[in-house]
Amino acid sequence: NDQHSALLDEDAFLLIAHRGASAIAPEHTLASYQLAMDMDADFIEIDLQMTQDGVLVALHDDTVDRTTDRSGKVAEMDLVDIKRMDAGSWFNAEKPDRAKDEYVGIQVPTLEEIFTAFGDSANYYIETKQPDESEEMEENLLELLDQFKLLEESQPDGKVMIQSFSADSLKTIRQLDNNIPLIQLMDDFEQVIPSSETFELYREYAVGIGVSHRKADEAYIAAAREAGLLVHPFVVDKLAEGEKLKSWGATGIFTNDLEAVSSLK
Ligand code: G3P
Ligand code: CA
Repeated sequence: NDQHSALLDEDAFLLIAHRGASAIAPEHTLASYQLAMDMDADFIEIDLQMTQDGVLVALHDDTVDRTTDRSGKVAEMDLVDIKRMDAGSWFNAEKPDRAKDEYVGIQVPTLEEIFTAFGDSANYYIETKQPDESEEMEENLLELLDQFKLLEESQPDGKVMIQSFSADSLKTIRQLDNNIPLIQLMDDFEQVIPSSETFELYREYAVGIGVSHRKADEAYIAAAREAGLLVHPFVVDKLAEGEKLKSWGATGIFTNDLEAVSSLK
């Protein structure tokens, strides 16, 4: 698709709603994504886990412990079990100043429910989590994208971006689909700036990198941009920090707090 899209523009500065508008609503719920849309986020960010019965759901952790009223591993539960959980009350307890009655009993959404709710009105920035342990996660994801016509030529480039810490997962996607823009997420433990050769290897399959804001200093961002990569630091909730990253050449940020950083657009 060669339709011009501002989403992949090197001069753009994208606000990626990290787990939705997760500063003001329980992360990875339809309510959180809806608020992100209302606040004009460029993308809603979705972390994917896969249930035991092979359904993609939006959850950051590989257990439900932190963000629901139950506990256990997602990969050992069927969708029906996950659908019984309350994915909102934890937020009300943790952030009483942001609590809302409507969050009580809110469900963990499946990816299908998210696409049903927002269709092509949203742009999606989707992360494969635990791809090694989730059989055919990538195939499953691409099938859903296809079913909801999110990969059609008529959609702007970058309507859907796929991110992962796993290069293997991204390369699997690249083998299945030659067009979806991919983002390589950088592990946090290494402090050194990757060599230009390393960045160029990423460039072979990815349009950009996602990198912790703790690592993304001026030299780091310059080196990645030099290799032709977009740079999206995570997670940036302070305006001053966003301004600094933008001045250094970052092309967007992941943020929980769209309100705090809205002036960066
Ligand atoms: O996807 C970018 C950023 O979200 C990576 O960290 O742990 O929040 O998924 P995490
Ligand atoms: Ca993520």
